[in-house]
Amino acid sequence: GASVEVDISDLQPGGVKTVEWRGKPVWIMRRTLEMLTALPEQDAALADPASRKDQQPEYARNPQRSIRPEVFVTVGICTHLGCSPTAVPAGTANPSVGDQWQGGFFCPCHGSTFDLAGRVFKNKPAPTNLEVPPHRYVSDTRLLIG
Ligand code: FES
Repeated sequence: GASVEVDISDLQPGGVKTVEWRGKPVWIMRRTLEMLTALPEQDAALADPASRKDQQPEYARNPQRSIRPEVFVTVGICTHLGCSPTAVPAGTANPSVGDQWQGGFFCPCHGSTFDLAGRVFKNKPAPTNLEVPPHRYVSDTRLLIG
């Protein structure tokens, strides 16, 4: 399929934009400094905090799983059986971390939960973290997916 170019200049801190790429939803989230700071705090509750098993390009193989720390790009499809999770705010209940969850993504089908880098929490069925698709910046405000 074709690549998709996205203007992210209007993406607010904490906001998520969804685009379609190869028939799949791709989310682009602008994480705040607070969200980034909280990322490593719940590593112990994650199934694969260092993202060793999941699909991601080399340039996203870092603690934020992204090229720019604040901009997270991920395929919005649960790695369990393909449902579409939804973004949830900090404080949402999560069986792995109680009300200390810093927010992320929740899959309604079988309850898998993911943090703000798409990393899955231990207690639910999704086998790997969310996929980071191939992407690059063509300018400061334009992102090319695919
Ligand atoms: Fe998401 Fe099963 S499809 S938890």
